[in-house]
Amino acid sequence: MIRVENVWKSFKGKVVNEDVSFEVYEGEIVTFLGPNGGGKTTLMRQVYGELSSDRGTISVDGLTPQDALESMGVVPQEVRPMDGLRASEHVYIMAVIKGVPRDRAWSRARGLIRKLSVEDKSVEELSGGNKRKILIASALVNDPRYLILDEPTTGLDPKSRRELWDILVELKGRGKGILLTTHYLEEAEYLADRVYLLNRRVLLSGRIWELRSKLSLKYEVVNLMTGERFHVERKEVPHFLSQCDFEYEVRTRSLEDIYREVMGSDG
Ligand SMILES: Nc1ncnc2c1ncn2[C@@H]1O[C@H](COP(=O)(O)OP(=O)(O)OP(=O)(O)O)[C@@H](O)[C@H]1O
Ligand SMILES: [Mg+2]
Repeated sequence: MIRVENVWKSFKGKVVNEDVSFEVYEGEIVTFLGPNGGGKTTLMRQVYGELSSDRGTISVDGLTPQDALESMGVVPQEVRPMDGLRASEHVYIMAVIKGVPRDRAWSRARGLIRKLSVEDKSVEELSGGNKRKILIASALVNDPRYLILDEPTTGLDPKSRRELWDILVELKGRGKGILLTTHYLEEAEYLADRVYLLNRRVLLSGRIWELRSKLSLKYEVVNLMTGERFHVERKEVPHFLSQCDFEYEVRTRSLEDIYREVMGSDG
């Protein structure tokens, strides 16, 4: 498991991560959400060992991040694939660098390119979304135990995004531990076993239904004829509905409602 305990990180005296703790177990997807500048990338970079922490500890299966690089596949937020290579060559080279035997590296690289529906042409000729898929394939190529993906679906079209979601769910089913950041709340709603809302510190965390109950957010009853919305306590819902003389729909609060409630004007 990845275990992050009471981690702090500052840049030039400004605290960016304040006392952050969390775990990622094998076979689950943990998702970090938060505003721009909220400290997600800084935190991910510490988990995969690119930055050191000022205080606190990070371990990956009991090892320091630097000693556990082989067990982590990483897609950083701002990295482009190398030009001058075909898509499959890029993934192949990353496989060889990561120690995959050469005979297996080709079949893995080609298989991933096919699975992610990327045309196998020169990297510089690919669209932005397809370039991201090259990075994702490169992260997956040595079949690491953990995946750390910093906004992996930014710039992907809806079909590609859904394909990646399916791949992540499949990988989770095969026991991978996945740590993900995103600005797409529907992505977190679809994928995340546990969500962390981060703005410098962790403001709220848990399974989505736990977040709802922690905030005791009311249910929303919508008058389908007028669009009028009513916010009703859970236990009041049956009584409220019995009084309705209009067509209605009852909604639980979405992750977006939770996010807005927690981040307030900061998010
Ligand atoms: N190398 C650095 N030197 C100085 N400040 C930095 C550095 N890296 C990040 N920061 C600052 O740390 C804060 C957190 O940045 P970070 O990139 O971790 O946020 P984020 O949550 O990933 O944001 P986004 O959603 O925009 O990707 C920001 O104020 C940023 O300007
Ligand atoms: Mg970021």
